[in-house]
Amino acid sequence: MSSLPPTVRSVTVPDFRAAKGARKLVVVTGYDYTAARILDAAGVDAILVGDSLGMVVQGHANSLPVTLGQMLYHTRCVVRGATRALVVADLPFLSYQASSEQSVRNAGKFLKAGAAAVKIEGGERMADRIAACVRADIPVMGHVGLTPQSVRKLGGFKVQRDADRIVADAQAVEAAGAFAIVIESVPPAIGEQVTKAVGIPTIGIGAGAACDGQVLVWHDLLGLYPDFRPKFAKAYAELGAQATTAIESYCRDVRDGTFPGPEHTFK
Ligand code: KIV
Repeated sequence: MSSLPPTVRSVTVPDFRAAKGARKLVVVTGYDYTAARILDAAGVDAILVGDSLGMVVQGHANSLPVTLGQMLYHTRCVVRGATRALVVADLPFLSYQASSEQSVRNAGKFLKAGAAAVKIEGGERMADRIAACVRADIPVMGHVGLTPQSVRKLGGFKVQRDADRIVADAQAVEAAGAFAIVIESVPPAIGEQVTKAVGIPTIGIGAGAACDGQVLVWHDLLGLYPDFRPKFAKAYAELGAQATTAIESYCRDVRDGTFPGPEHTFK
């Protein structure tokens, strides 16, 4: 299995769907223009404008406070930086739960903002919302296992272990017309079972290596929070510590008069 070379044409929804069994899919969350440019240049298949921004950008304890307007704002920023990767945007809490009509109207706003697809949390109970969006030609990525918008019902961000439920949810999402499914926080055997039970790509986060692809949160991947590292996340850099060191150096230079030097000063 090889990865899509970063220089090829834009990744489309059909390309993404067709990758199952052919190559592993790489997804990273991104919330702004700079991140989108970096992710695009690095060759990821898709950038997910996740409502995890409620935690990693806004500092909330969960994603429930995130609004539709905020998600649209971040989606527009990402779209401007991503010329190749598929941009998928999360529908935030209470922007699709009320009715299928609500889900179509709100999901459509993300396509108008430039996203290629939306992500909707929930399995069987959200299948009619997913089907309504797909009927309106809005591509949908599903999300089963731990669905963070259900945090109050679940009593916390807990590993989900009901294999029958999770497989049934994934199959309902596929039957509703989704082109891919995120599986979050399940034991690897369930990640594998779901991956074999559906014909669309599964994108795991804390769901084991058998999934058709993986997604990581930007801040976790780059080690921006040295004091918080979820078990499923691998930090490929320690940018949090590096940023602190860089800013400490700047503080020192300003205070001792070393910065700005002649090279940073207009003649
Ligand atoms: O909001 C998000 O970033 C997500 C990913 C963790 C899958 O849904």
